[in-house]
Amino acid sequence: MAGELAGKIAIVTGGANGIGAATAELFVEEGARVLIADLDAERGKALADRLGAAAQFRCTDVGDRSDVQGLVDEAIGTFGDLDIMFNNAGFSGHFHNRYLNDPLEDFDRVLQVNLAGVMYGSQIAARHMVKKRSGSIINTSSIAAISPGYAVLTYRAAKAGVLNFTKSLAIDLGEYMVRVNGIAPGHIPTGMNPFFEKGLAPERQARLDKLMGETMQFNQPIKRAGSPRDVAQMAMFLGSDRSTYVTGQVIAVDGGVTAGDPINLNGMCAEARRRFLEEEA
Ligand SMILES: NC(=O)c1ccc[n+]([C@@H]2O[C@H](COP(=O)([O-])OP(=O)(O)OC[C@H]3O[C@@H](n4cnc5c(N)ncnc54)[C@H](O)[C@@H]3O)[C@@H](O)[C@H]2O)c1
Repeated sequence: MAGELAGKIAIVTGGANGIGAATAELFVEEGARVLIADLDAERGKALADRLGAAAQFRCTDVGDRSDVQGLVDEAIGTFGDLDIMFNNAGFSGHFHNRYLNDPLEDFDRVLQVNLAGVMYGSQIAARHMVKKRSGSIINTSSIAAISPGYAVLTYRAAKAGVLNFTKSLAIDLGEYMVRVNGIAPGHIPTGMNPFFEKGLAPERQARLDKLMGETMQFNQPIKRAGSPRDVAQMAMFLGSDRSTYVTGQVIAVDGGVTAGDPINLNGMCAEARRRFLEEEA
């Protein structure tokens, strides 16, 4: 399948780590030239160096509109065009077991980066894309937007905003042949760990992460951890000419966890029944 993105110019925000880094790597493998944008200059530069002439890095805060304008200008100035804008940078903010205990200290920043950042990137990229009547904007939402639920409520609200914005913008830009889609990753072990507990010794944090991973997988039809590459494959499809009739969609890449009952009541009942029968035997 090599060459799916041959000749395309892409920006990947949050491209220094995790899902963004896996996407930058896959995009280059498939023939694109990529401008990697991130606040993490060390890892972003290292990745661009490793990917060679097809990749460059620009230190960018997606929550700062003028930074994002500079980013898009640089892609067009350096590579001559912009075909794919992957607005992927994000972070979950602090985990609080109850919203009642959430001091909302990171409220502004979570909304600014996760929601405003996507809106800036989409608008600035679209202003270029509408002129040439083609382009693909891809926004990272989350299953936290699809399934309302527990903890990180500011993040959920921001990602739900991304989901609605993505669909609305697709309707707005359809007549210009600019496509706008989203990806809702499930639980993908990366540097963004909402279960990080301040002050916890590394081995205890690792135990907590393992427990959380197992709990997530219990809820998934596909019983393995997701990987950044799983999400990158969807970004590649949405950025490529394989998806020219797809717009306004937010596609979950989550091992099926949002396919059915989000708290997996049936699964829990089946597990309880299995345990009961084992004990009875
Ligand atoms: N990992 C998951 O389980 C998961 C699930 C659902 C959604 N997501 C979303 O996927 C996206 C990528 O997350 P990830 O899991 O790869 O996490 P990650 O922490 O590995 O990567 C996120 C990257 O975004 C960068 N970043 C953060 N704020 C930024 C800013 N203001 N400007 C520029 N760069 C910034 C970070 O430096 C980092 O390199 C995020 O939007 C996240 O909310 C992740």
